[in-house]
Formats: sequence, C-alpha cells, structure tokens
Amino acid sequence: MSKRFYITTAIDYVNGRPHLGHAYEKVVADVIARSRRSFGQETFFLTGLDEHGQKVQQAAQAEGKSAIAYCDELAIIWRDLAAKLQLTNDDFVRTTQPRHKEVVRTILSKLHAAGHFYKAIYEGFYSAKEETFLTEKDRRPDGTFDPAYGEVVRLQEENYYFKLKDHQPWLIDHIESHPEFISPGYRRNEVLGFLKNNTLEDLCISRPASRLNWGIPLPFDANYVTYVWFDALSNYLSVPAAAGDSGAPEDLRPASAGASSLPAVWPADVHVIGKDILKFHAVYWPIMLRAMGAPLPKQVLVHGWWQKDGQRMSKSTGNVVDPIGVIDEWGLDAFRFYVLRELDIGPDGNWTDAGFRARYSAELANGLGNLVNRSLSMLKRYRNGAVPAVSTELAAETQKTVAETRALLEQNQLQAALQSIWSLVTRANQYVDHTAPFKLAKDPAQAGRLDEVLYNLAEVCRILAVLLWPFLPGTSAKIYAQLGLAGEPRQFSAAAWGGLEPGHAIGAPAPLFPRKDAA
Ligand code: MSP
Repeated sequence: MSKRFYITTAIDYVNGRPHLGHAYEKVVADVIARSRRSFGQETFFLTGLDEHGQKVQQAAQAEGKSAIAYCDELAIIWRDLAAKLQLTNDDFVRTTQPRHKEVVRTILSKLHAAGHFYKAIYEGFYSAKEETFLTEKDRRPDGTFDPAYGEVVRLQEENYYFKLKDHQPWLIDHIESHPEFISPGYRRNEVLGFLKNNTLEDLCISRPASRLNWGIPLPFDANYVTYVWFDALSNYLSVPAAAGDSGAPEDLRPASAGASSLPAVWPADVHVIGKDILKFHAVYWPIMLRAMGAPLPKQVLVHGWWQKDGQRMSKSTGNVVDPIGVIDEWGLDAFRFYVLRELDIGPDGNWTDAGFRARYSAELANGLGNLVNRSLSMLKRYRNGAVPAVSTELAAETQKTVAETRALLEQNQLQAALQSIWSLVTRANQYVDHTAPFKLAKDPAQAGRLDEVLYNLAEVCRILAVLLWPFLPGTSAKIYAQLGLAGEPRQFSAAAWGGLEPGHAIGAPAPLFPRKDAA
C-alpha cells in the first residue's frame, strides 16, 4: 500500500484576525497539494489553529472572554478564510480538540517514561509576550531587550526540561546527508551554522499552571501545562495518529482509533512554514520525533515574510493587507495569482497595491483573459462555436511548456511554473497577432488556414486550463465551461495535445478578468 503525500502548514495563533502572511502560506500549500493530486498522487493536506498558550490566553482576557469561547469565535473566522481561499485541506486541526490533546498526553508520557525529561529550577529573564526564556546573550549592546519581547521580567521557576544535547550530532548528520530536508538551501545553511556553533540548551517543555493554565496539563504532573510549542508541533503527528494512521508509531495511536485502512500519511512530505519558526521545525521537531521513535518528515519548506509598501505589517500602523478585502474586490484568483507570481518560496516579498493592479491588468486581463476571450469569440463568430479538425501547429511548443511546468511543480517551484505557463500565454497571443485570423476570415480561400488557427488557439486555452488548475482553480473551471467541457480539469494528464474533438460545440465566451480601469 503506497503512502499518501502529506503536506501541512503552520497552525496559526488565534490571537487576532488572519492577514496576508497567513493566507499566502496556505495558498502555497494548497497549490502543492492540488498539483500532487493532479499528478494522481493520493494527498492529505492539513492546516489549522494553535489555540493554547499565553498569547491566546491574554487576548481572551483582554476581551473579557473565557479562552475557549474566544477561540471558538475566532476559529469560525479562520475556517471561513480557508474556505474563501478554496483550500483543498482534508482536515482542520484545532489544538483544543480532544483527539489532539489525547495524543499529546501519550507523547509526553512516553518521553517521560523513557527518561527524556528532568525537573530543574530556572532563574533568569522571561518574555511573556513571546513566551520564551531569555539570557544575557539576548540583550542588545545597550543592555536592553528587543521591544519585540514586550515586558521582560525576572523569574525563578521550577519546570520540566527536555534533554537536547545528545541529539545534536545525529541531527547535524541528518541535515548534511539529506540536502532536501530544509529548503531553500540558504535556510539549511543557517540551521547547520547554528547547530555547529552552539550547544543546544535543553528545552523547557512546561509552564506552571499557577501562572498559565491555558494548555494541556502534563500527564505526569498536574501542576504544569505543556509548553505551547511542544503542543503545537505535535499536531502534524497527532492528527494522523488519532485516525489510526499506519505510519504513526503504534504506541501513539489511541486504542479507540482502530487501524486505518487508508494508505499511511506519516511521515510528512512537506511542512510549509515561515522563516521565523524555522528553528522549531528544523531542530526541536526532528528531535521530538526521534525521541518518540517516529520517522522524520522529508522536508521543511521555508517561505519568506511579506511586507506592505516596504514596511513590516502591523496592526498599530494600520498597514495590514486584509486578504478577504482583496478577494472581495478583485476575486480569489487575482489574489492567488499575485502572491504566487510575485514571490518565490524563500525570499521576503513586498505587497504594493500598484504592483497588484499592474499584474492584474498586464498578466491576467490583457494576457490570459484576452487570449481566451478572443480565441473563443472568434471560434464562435467564424465557426459558430464548432471545433474544427485537429491541427498540431502549436503542439510541440505547448508540450514543452507542459513538461517544464510539471517538472517545476514536482520541485515546488511555483513562481517558475507560473512563468513557464505565461510564456505559453504570450506565445499564443503572438500567434493571434501573426496569423491574424480576423483577416483570414475575410478570404474564403483561407478557410482551411483559419480552421487550423482556431483549433490551435482553442486547444492551447484548454491546456492552459489544465496547467492553471492548481493555481487558479476558479479561472481554470471557467475556461473549461466556456469551452463547453464538463467539470474541472483536475488531472494533469489532460494536458496532452488533441483533447478537443472536432465538431465539439463550445460554450459562451465571457471576460475572465474584467478590466478595472476606472478603479
Ligand atoms: N502558532 C505558530 C506556529 C505553530 S506551527 C506548529 C505561529 N503562528 S503565527 O500565526 O504567528 O504564524 C503562522 C504562520 O504565518 C507562520 O509560518 C509565519 O511565518 C507566517 N507569517 C506570519 N506573518 C507573516 C508575514 N508577514 N509574511 C509571511 N508569512 C508570515 O507562528
């Protein structure tokens, strides 16, 4: 039984509303999930919410609500965003769900019994905002701590620690012998540099319940709750384990789950995350997995951060891009296209409204939209919408783009794949200009040539719909409908030349991306 392709996103904190950065990451994961499905791979795509911990507890308190009531309210907004983005996620985890908490308790009991934890007194600095312990090394040259840490207090506290030092050598070996484990390569070098030049501090995995009670109680000491990152990272495994996944260690699967008859999902193939949480995913998470006897994920795929107009997005300055507002005004596919085309997975990006409009107008309205609209309108006008005999004039060039796009999608190179698809859009638009079907139509002696041109254009439009399905699902479905074809082109194999049958009646052409010149 082959394994399912398993892709995850970071689970977002529910201490506010979603913004561009959260939406971007989910769209990236969705395109990868859709493309794998279109290649015929069974896929499991997981996203969700990180609901425990101090950040969420404080946000709830600020609104005078109980933590769970606050999470329940916001979870609706976040789930709505997933639907609005047309994510094809198979599940949506909330870390407050019993299925997750049960597996986390099992993991903790197992690691505790195996002697991975010890109890010790910590004395030092603590940032409640970032929920993290700080040392002298974290001070800036002027002696203060970065304002991002918020108020830093002195603290003396007894906690449970996870021994990490022994894990350092094998982790370095693993990263060196699996170059694909952390992508892009410069992020891998960053982690290797860190591991080779520092001794890992043991990880504090508890918080006293007297100070913070919004978390999963430690199964072996009710005076403590689980550190939010230990809890959150576990979601990637708790969801499959709770469903009886055969890839999850047997002793983590609840007895009540039974054995799943579906192909295994664990280990994950890709964890899509932002650069700020790399250490948690590339250092702590593999060590946790190794300690619990679970195979390691194949890849941590790290994206950069979006800014707006060259500034960090921040609620206080008001320069936050609200993905819902953009989608309501411009349509989902315009949003998906801009973020995927503008930013490669890795570097930081900069959202500008002018840049968004420019891409909408040049690449969507005048590029793809114009090609499809004029190709189908001419077929309607000159041939009453009936597809002429098969012609292969653009077949070779199209197949080259199809092969290139597939290879790029297999390497999760989404921006380059879009560039490749747009080279075909541009080529086909040039073909219209060079062959001038509107002139051919005036000369009855050119009827055969006009048939050829119209076939090539309609078939390129159909194949573009197939290639675009992972990226712009709504547009892809519209192109199919305008071609008079049923359903959506969900299978990449449909990108073979010659799919349009002679005599087939196309549907009604309509603009895909209405021009917004007046806006
Ligand atoms: N809850 C943790 C993740 C736990 S995963 C086991 C967390 N949540 S978060 O809401 O702060 O961030 C969620 C994801 O959004 C992270 O991958 C983060 O990098 C990403 N982004 C948050 N702001 C971003 C931008 N401005 N740009 C791009 N992505 C950003 O961290």
